[in-house]
Amino acid sequence: MKVITKIVDLQNELFAARKEGKEIGLVPTMGALHEGHASLVKRSVKENDITVVSVFLNPTQFNDQGDLDRYPRTLEADCKLLEDCGASYCFAPSVDEMYPTPDERHFEFPPVSTVMEGAKRPGHFNGVCQVVSRLFYIVRPNRAYFGEKDWQQIAVVKQLVKFIGMSDSLQIVECPIIRDEDGLAKSSRNSLLSKDERAIAPAIFKALKESVEYAKNHNVKETHDKVVADINAVEGLEVEYFEIVDGNTLQDVTNWEDSPYVVGCITVYCGKTPIRLIDHIKYKE
Ligand code: PAF
Repeated sequence: MKVITKIVDLQNELFAARKEGKEIGLVPTMGALHEGHASLVKRSVKENDITVVSVFLNPTQFNDQGDLDRYPRTLEADCKLLEDCGASYCFAPSVDEMYPTPDERHFEFPPVSTVMEGAKRPGHFNGVCQVVSRLFYIVRPNRAYFGEKDWQQIAVVKQLVKFIGMSDSLQIVECPIIRDEDGLAKSSRNSLLSKDERAIAPAIFKALKESVEYAKNHNVKETHDKVVADINAVEGLEVEYFEIVDGNTLQDVTNWEDSPYVVGCITVYCGKTPIRLIDHIKYKE
């Protein structure tokens, strides 16, 4: 695997590969890689001739400087994991390389970009779209791989692909969430949890999972309220939002019959810092 830091170097390599008819998979990441990322990389390696993994902690998508400062940085270990997964290139540019001048573009795709994370983290999806569109222009992949853990991000990226006119040449591949044995969704932020925080975090998925059974005999509001109450009852956990939405439009559903595809999306603060954890559960698909 080659580690590349300059856009022009990556483009030269990919230009040659494309000329030979090779197909390119892109896995965008912010580093601090774990098994969730590994599953995306392995899938890309299986489905493409070349896999580019970008490792770039994108400052424009952080609306909280503390969150950016705390974010784990582990490039050496990341490269080892990528090598083991069979990636062809690790693209690890500097901030100046990605943003030689400030990115003044503004992306908004309401309603999918304005609800939930869009409302709670103003500017977050704009930053995601800035960096992801740059990566798409640089790499020109045939397929790009995103984890379903960031459910809303996938919906936003799909809108972005349409907007920048790449829907015919680029397929967005959605990959299932990967969990620890106790149910906690794998996330780079998990490494920031203390031992005590790590011990209570699985209560999030436990409540979500139990609510699927509960939902069979209860309405949407009752199910919503039970999940929030179950999680808030655990000392050290506090639900920021839990929304039961249509899995495509991300609009709230009020009755289970409102949509054939219903997902519950949650964000929970864990511990004193606190660390923000995201998860979701599918009620109907
Ligand atoms: O999901 C992430 O890690 C980031 O939002 C992404 C897609 C790599 C863009 O920085």
